[in-house]
Amino acid sequence: MTQEDFLFLARLVRRRSGLLLAEGRGPALELRLQPVMRRFGFRDAKAMMAELRLGHEALAQALTEAVTINETSFFRDPHQFARLRDHVLPGRIAARSGEKRLRIWSAGCAAGQEAWSLAMMLDAMPLSGWTVDLIATDLSGDAIARAKAGHYSQYDVLRGLSEEDVARHFTALENGFAISSRLKRTVRFRKFNLLDSFGWLDDVDLILCRNVLLHFDRVARIAVLERLAETLAPGGALLLGESETVQGRSDLFQEIAGSPGFYSPTEMPVARLAG
Ligand SMILES: C[S@@+](CC[C@H](N)C(=O)[O-])C[C@H]1O[C@@H](n2cnc3c(N)ncnc32)[C@H](O)[C@@H]1O
Repeated sequence: MTQEDFLFLARLVRRRSGLLLAEGRGPALELRLQPVMRRFGFRDAKAMMAELRLGHEALAQALTEAVTINETSFFRDPHQFARLRDHVLPGRIAARSGEKRLRIWSAGCAAGQEAWSLAMMLDAMPLSGWTVDLIATDLSGDAIARAKAGHYSQYDVLRGLSEEDVARHFTALENGFAISSRLKRTVRFRKFNLLDSFGWLDDVDLILCRNVLLHFDRVARIAVLERLAETLAPGGALLLGESETVQGRSDLFQEIAGSPGFYSPTEMPVARLAG
């Protein structure tokens, strides 16, 4: 791909998703674009890029999804899950004990491992009689389809799950493992771009948005942080990836005492909206 085409694609992807395309990704990037090229019937990248410049919406969408980095694993960064289980979730369960309702969002869930890890953790908690909305979203339609199917290879399962977890929550397939039908009912997966309106989500107790915004440009990252703060319930918690912070909008969040990396919104969302 020519430098000019690369820069055009990088601008398009940034505007559509917030994602920054690193120039060094050259050959790896082209490899990711090839299935899209074949699917749309282009003979080479040059022809595809020429069509893209004419405003081919479906192609632009497919290319944006193709460049996403979907690396993930079950219980990735286990100490974050331990803190969630031992401190943050018990705090939210106590806060919601009147209404018995929890709403949790895995934002940028890739192929679903993060959401299923949450589901397994919640399954072991004293939540009988509660309404627990566990919502998981991603920009990539392929990733969401894989997450919904809940089929994982032996390699995927070995990354993060104990034998006990597998025995309790999976059934064995010929070529891997499938999430049990009981657990499957507990997660709602949906394709969703974090640059779009969050209007359908509100009063969320816990948002995991891990290892997503670190690939965003600064303006998009800050815009998403603002909307995440608005979407959280007062006293709710945002968890970012291990190497991420709320830098740029740290005025909207305070770190939860005793739970580094977990942030609560600083004000009531309504007050913030009015301001
Ligand atoms: C590296 S994965 C992180 C998965 C999981 N949260 C974790 O930490 O293991 C990043 C995910 O963010 C998604 N993503 C990137 N840009 C997005 C956007 N604008 N809206 C929604 N999801 C996006 C990608 O498709 C990808 O699946």
